[in-house]
Amino acid sequence: AFVAGAIPAAAAFPERAITLIVPFAAGGPGDTVVRLIGTHMAKTLGQPIVMENAPGAGGTSAISRATQAGADGYTIMLGNMGTHGAAPAQYPNLKYDPAEDFTPIGLMVTTPIVIIARKTFPANNLREFIDYVRRNQDKVVEAHAGVGSVSHTTCTLLQWIIGTKTARVAYRGTGPSINDLVSEHVDFGCDQIVNVAPHIQAGTLKALGIATAKRSAAMKDVPTTREGGLPEFEVSAWIALFAPKGTPQHVVGRLNEALVKALDDEGTRARLLDLGSEIPDRAGRAPDALQELVVREVARWRPVLKTAGQ
Ligand code: MLT
Repeated sequence: AFVAGAIPAAAAFPERAITLIVPFAAGGPGDTVVRLIGTHMAKTLGQPIVMENAPGAGGTSAISRATQAGADGYTIMLGNMGTHGAAPAQYPNLKYDPAEDFTPIGLMVTTPIVIIARKTFPANNLREFIDYVRRNQDKVVEAHAGVGSVSHTTCTLLQWIIGTKTARVAYRGTGPSINDLVSEHVDFGCDQIVNVAPHIQAGTLKALGIATAKRSAAMKDVPTTREGGLPEFEVSAWIALFAPKGTPQHVVGRLNEALVKALDDEGTRARLLDLGSEIPDRAGRAPDALQELVVREVARWRPVLKTAGQ
């Protein structure tokens, strides 16, 4: 029966606050990017987006839980190259399948990886760094954000390429791991440019190489790994938004629309670019493009991590 005054559900979303689960500690790259973009999305959506940091097990604990949340768009999550790319290869009993258990919303940014060290680390370029780590494997300590995270995965690859096996310490995100690197409690790490660019500019961390083909405008003085003699280590991460599987099309459409708008906003773009992130073009922001990226990434990391081990 027709109900007078009833509005179609499609027009109603969102009618209350949205919870956005960030599966890492505050202050890290994911947290930084999602707060910048989320603030603009909330304006478009006309409802607050409440960030909930829920770190643990390289982000996989919170993502496992989030698959059980209502598929109504009111609980969404940040996923990255770790949680939705590398994690299946690192956790045989992972409770979710990145390609099957989510409704993709869209890619937020791509973030090149930078090899960083504490500011007094006794190496001033990549060759010296590799040489030092090789000769002092029993002393040097790497910091990462937990097994399966971006930082852990990319440094697993780095250590395999250079043939080292140092001690590795897990943090609840690279927010806290970078803090400890700045305070010189640990020696080095692999992290996304957005988290380390301010430190490199301020001289509180040393950058040994950026793992991209070309230098970044956000840190023009930092040589690429190719320039540093390690072309095998070229890797970028990515940060995206997902909803639980089965989230209705019109809800995902609204969320994606808000994301696309945020990525077109001049102020938001300027902040993201200053931090060295790369902003996807229109086609790269579509939910389908993210789904394809996830499938490709899971397939890319499985053999790499099988060979490189932990
Ligand atoms: C973070 O946001 O803390 C990092 O993305 C963690 C990671 O290395 O994946």
